[in-house]
Amino acid sequence: MRDVDVHGKRVFVRVDFNVPLDADGHVTDDTRIRASLPTIEYLLDHGAAVILASHLGRPKGKVVESMRLAPAAESLSQRLSVPVQMAPDSIGPEVEATARALAPGQVLLLENLRFHPEEEANDDDFSRRLAGLADRYVDDAFGSAHRAHASTVGVACLLPSSAGLLMQAELDTLGGALDDPERPFIVIIGGAKISSKIAVLQHLLTRADSFLIGGGMANTLLKAHGVDVGASLVEDDKLDVACDFLESAEAAGIPVHLPSDAIVATAVAQEAERKTVQVDETPAGWRIVDIGPQTIRDFRDVIKDAGTILWNGPMGVFEVPAFANGTREVARLVADSHAKSIVGGGDSVAAVEQMGVADRMTHVSTGGGAALEFLEGRVLPGVAVLPDA
Ligand code: 3PG
Repeated sequence: MRDVDVHGKRVFVRVDFNVPLDADGHVTDDTRIRASLPTIEYLLDHGAAVILASHLGRPKGKVVESMRLAPAAESLSQRLSVPVQMAPDSIGPEVEATARALAPGQVLLLENLRFHPEEEANDDDFSRRLAGLADRYVDDAFGSAHRAHASTVGVACLLPSSAGLLMQAELDTLGGALDDPERPFIVIIGGAKISSKIAVLQHLLTRADSFLIGGGMANTLLKAHGVDVGASLVEDDKLDVACDFLESAEAAGIPVHLPSDAIVATAVAQEAERKTVQVDETPAGWRIVDIGPQTIRDFRDVIKDAGTILWNGPMGVFEVPAFANGTREVARLVADSHAKSIVGGGDSVAAVEQMGVADRMTHVSTGGGAALEFLEGRVLPGVAVLPDA
């Protein structure tokens, strides 16, 4: 984006303002809005008029009042200290007139793109109408780059395009970790299901120096190892892929650290009876809900020597406070380490935010699904379409 002259131009910036709102319609976490500030400020400082576009939620092609972007406009306006005009729609004569009248230094936010079904269909005519609003296109929506929609791909084909500063930072950091990590490169993976992360594990097998695995997905790996995990969440139809992964890692000489002890509970509920056991002593009918203290110590010994740490997914049922300790401890250990630390994925990002350690990480990704697909080695359509400056 820095390579092009934007002075006096109207720039269409695809941002990802898919942010959580409370019942009163206030933004409860403005991380993604803050992350877009460098691009917006750069464009304003360099004499551009900025037309922002985003989706919010999944309104399925209809106007849904609770998914209007006005709260994001208000939140952005406070951060920028510049008024942000809210458009009544993303296309149409009124929006076109407002965009045409925009002066350098002014900001317009289009209404939720997904109120039109043509957005997700990457419809040609819809793309043309969006492109008609501006002279240039900047894609700063890394979080939406795995979607081939009109605003992420269609418009980029119609206007001179570049990556925004957030997009560039995400690609540089995540890509740098995969291509040229400072070693040892430690990958910490958690989350409920191995099925949603197996492609990441397989892709990182040729890059990581060791894996630390927690969360529900570790149960499937433990069971594949022959450990009886009681009534814990296990994907029985994924035991084969779990075995394959463990065998491939062993053949490649890459250690996979699984939990040795765990917090087990009679139910996944705050008030349930709970205790600490060795994983192979999980009582019948009990469930593993978090990693145990010995596992945290084992993970600490690996984390402390890391050169690069990539962390995606919680270590237990993090949303239940009684089972959040393992995730919180890992957040603290990663923050305390001297490694280049990269955190991606909703729950692990929430954990570092809750612990107040987000600013001690090298990079906290704004991408959920997009970050996962990137880590799987997949081509993101919203990135592929941008010319390689
Ligand atoms: C996200 O929150 O991951 C992005 O904004 C993409 O949202 P989507 O999964 O609804 O496309």
